[in-house]
Amino acid sequence: MPTASIDLAAVVLAAGQSTRMNSAVSKVLHEIAGEALLGHVLAAVASLDASPVVVVAGRGQDDVAGLASSQGAEVAIQDPPLGTGHAVLQARAALEGFGGDIMVVYGDTPLIRPETLQLLIDRRHQADNPAVVVFGFRPADPALYGRLVLDDSDHLARIVEARDANETEKAINLCNGGVMVLDGAIAFDLLANLGNDNAKGEYYLTDIIAEAAKNGRVCAVIEGDEQEIMGVDHRTALAAAEATLQDRLRAKVLAGGATLVDPGTVWFSADTVVGRDVYIEPNVFFGPGVVVQDNVTIKGFSHIEGAIIGDGAVIGPFARLRPGTELAEDTKVGNFVEIKKAKIEAGAKVNHLSYIGDARVGMKANIGAGTITCNYDGFNKSHTDIGAGAFIGSNSALVAPVKIGDGATVGAGSTISNDVAADDLTVTRAPQKNIAGGAERLRKRYRSEKEARQNDNTKQDK
Ligand code: UD1
Ligand code: MG
Repeated sequence: MPTASIDLAAVVLAAGQSTRMNSAVSKVLHEIAGEALLGHVLAAVASLDASPVVVVAGRGQDDVAGLASSQGAEVAIQDPPLGTGHAVLQARAALEGFGGDIMVVYGDTPLIRPETLQLLIDRRHQADNPAVVVFGFRPADPALYGRLVLDDSDHLARIVEARDANETEKAINLCNGGVMVLDGAIAFDLLANLGNDNAKGEYYLTDIIAEAAKNGRVCAVIEGDEQEIMGVDHRTALAAAEATLQDRLRAKVLAGGATLVDPGTVWFSADTVVGRDVYIEPNVFFGPGVVVQDNVTIKGFSHIEGAIIGDGAVIGPFARLRPGTELAEDTKVGNFVEIKKAKIEAGAKVNHLSYIGDARVGMKANIGAGTITCNYDGFNKSHTDIGAGAFIGSNSALVAPVKIGDGATVGAGSTISNDVAADDLTVTRAPQKNIAGGAERLRKRYRSEKEARQNDNTKQDK
């Protein structure tokens, strides 16, 4: 294993064209598991403590630059894009004086795992001191991948791009995955020497291998899994990458001690945190920013994003938790309940058909079926505060801003727009009027009117 003192920087290539996505959005901004492709790559290099991280973007890719900056990466612009070698050279200024390892990764390979990147770093520091370590793989169809040519000592002698390869070279099935770890002490000097006399007229990063050999340095290959360096170039590949990542996320949740009754129907975000002894029924979706603490039950068809779910809570079926939802321990959120930006305190229940937004629901309060917090007047959002132990009768509208005191009871069907003091009972229903025998009289009248109409119609038909 390398020592922690080995410095690592990363260069993430993201300047290429992305026409096959058929999108107004840059390729690496498309998302899987709630996170941009580029975000996954940045997370992988961040977990290896790479610093600095330089994202090479193309001209006009403000969305790429914006995401890179927001994740603490530097941005170098490659304009025009003249090949992968030329792309890495654009990071030279940002890495001025850096002599550690430089990891090159592509922004569109979201499935690369830190463990695999670490293997390349480890290989860089073996006794033969390779100038470059390349991620190699044996694809089912080598097609357009660069071919890895080994020498007699099984070191990497050079890489031949498919378009430039002869028949013997094309027959090699060990290919370049694109990820490399370079010796930063010489990498940019080697890159600056590359030419572009090849089939594409580009400065190929892959030519750095032969250049290193010319300088008396060996290069090495670490073989890995094709799936990990899968590049996302079009929507079908995006869906395939999503499927692979979801399987990984499900495996992680299962290993963490949660039950997924039907794993393939539960969709996670890359950042979903799920505790132990959590029980998740089929068909549940987790958007970004969800933390599920221990002993939670989530019933089928629930949609959850930006929410913290406390220990022992029971959610769903058919619950919708939107960003800013905080459920304390032992809370209950039942079917067809939507909660947004609201704190539901310990033991409180919102069991049926409600909207709770911009609110606090105090400890052990009970929110009756069909309760709505009317938080929006078309211009402003306002807050509803419901005290501990309060009881809100079914089909009540709480017109915010409004405060229901601890232990207060709101009668069913009320529209509440004034505060209610603790332990008060409030009701805004119209008074009830019972008319003795009125229903029977009404039925008689309607029945005889209907019969009269039918008699009229039969006469006209004759
Ligand atoms: C490259 C490799 C090939 C390897 C394959 C693996 C080279 C010359 N070839 O080929 O050996 O098998 O990847 O997928 O390196 N990019 C830039 N600027 C550029 C050109 C590319 O930033 O000027 C970026 C792209 O956005 C992409 C990455 O570099 O993220 C690779 O570019 P791509 O055009 O896909 O290279 P390939 O021809 O597939
Ligand atoms: Mg490619």
